[in-house]
Amino acid sequence: MNNKYSAEPFRIKMVEPIKETTRAEREMLLKNAGYNPFSLKSEDVYIDLLTDSGTGAMSQEQWSAMILGDEAYAGSKSFYKLDAVVKNITGYKYMMPVHQGRGAEQVFLPQLVTKPGMVYISNIHFDTTRAHVELAGARAIDSVIKECFIMDHYHPFKGNFDLEKLESIILEKGADHVAGIIMTLTNNSAGGQPVSMENIKAVRKIALKYNIKTIIDGARYAENAYFIKQREKGYENKAIIDIAREMCSYADAFLMSAKKDGLVNMGGLIVINDDEALFNKCKERAIPYEGFPTYGGMNGRDIEAMAVGLMEALDERYLKYRIDQVRYLGDRLREAGIPIQYPIGGHAVFVDCKQVAPHIPPHQFPALAVCNALYLEAGIRAVEIGSLLMGRDPDTHENVPTEMEYMRLTIPRRVYTYRHMDVIADAMIHVYEHRNELKGYEFVYEPPMLRHFTATFKIKD
Ligand code: F0G
Repeated sequence: MNNKYSAEPFRIKMVEPIKETTRAEREMLLKNAGYNPFSLKSEDVYIDLLTDSGTGAMSQEQWSAMILGDEAYAGSKSFYKLDAVVKNITGYKYMMPVHQGRGAEQVFLPQLVTKPGMVYISNIHFDTTRAHVELAGARAIDSVIKECFIMDHYHPFKGNFDLEKLESIILEKGADHVAGIIMTLTNNSAGGQPVSMENIKAVRKIALKYNIKTIIDGARYAENAYFIKQREKGYENKAIIDIAREMCSYADAFLMSAKKDGLVNMGGLIVINDDEALFNKCKERAIPYEGFPTYGGMNGRDIEAMAVGLMEALDERYLKYRIDQVRYLGDRLREAGIPIQYPIGGHAVFVDCKQVAPHIPPHQFPALAVCNALYLEAGIRAVEIGSLLMGRDPDTHENVPTEMEYMRLTIPRRVYTYRHMDVIADAMIHVYEHRNELKGYEFVYEPPMLRHFTATFKIKD
């Protein structure tokens, strides 16, 4: 390792032992889990790359802030601390905490669905976002640039909207049938790929032209701001927080799962720019689902940790280490010839399993096959982002066709070391060398919605 990858800007003060299992044990554990990594117990996982959501390590400042948690039902001191931090970052007028990102989605997204036949348009909707769009009675349409799907093709902002497609969807559906445009920053499902400021601005311009609201899905907005600083002309000398503020200035609302760039294990946010009536509607809906708007499903302790974590995640030294570590893993895989989404994204390395296992058709889930092989090889748990996750069309019940058959190696924040990255890379290289032996899967149980979480499978002969 050299200076190309920055070392951890912290030292470790508390450790959690992790168990190792034998291959024979893992074979049994995986079979008992119905070949679905979501059903494994985490103690049976050596390195857990299922998600970067709520899996990060908190700092000493966050832990000590928790002592100050004010557990009042209404108007706690902790709430007002968070309120000040969030308004400082976003520049918006109204905010409320919620228990996590999907809490924000379920309170906010139905507000803009005012009649039948409406759609939300996103660069790519995250799976829970898509589910909440559908639960609200609308449909989710994605409009990402086509370079996003050319794995080895360098594009600095592969998460960008396809602006022409965006406008043509608006014209086809009719502007009054577009509930909103959701800018997912970074674009999780496309490989944690960033969206440029230029693209965000252009989306805003189109939205204003048709009088449509823009919403930032800001789960990984700090990582997006870091990429803008690295790659976009004119931003190289700007502070991350100023880039974040500018991003927010092009939207009407900011929904956040704080479990990512809030550096907390639980929490979320609804932040609204200046539409008081919309905020009031969100407050009304939040009460029966999330709780009184000054706690929103959170306790004072966790709100304190979030107020601190949001600022820590904007620290450039932290972000450099974070993005470098993910890139280190990706570079090792790429050097071994493994097809990955390139350039490497913010929170994860995405392996293109369509290329790893071309002999497994989409409906037998090639990326699930690779995930399970990696678990068997080294006890590493990754996650499928492909045909399985995309699910079925709510109208036709056909499998949604998708270009993506990814295995996501998602790196928790401040948790694993560079040596862990080597263990992951070595195991993945071994799986890749034996890729011809991979087999597909078929359903034993297929749930009707968000099927990837609880489905069970058997190996296809
Ligand atoms: N939006 C994006 C872009 C996300 O990645 C997630 C969660 C959510 C919204 C929902 O937030 O989990 O707090 O309810 N992503 C996690 C993941 C689960 O593994 O990518 P949540």
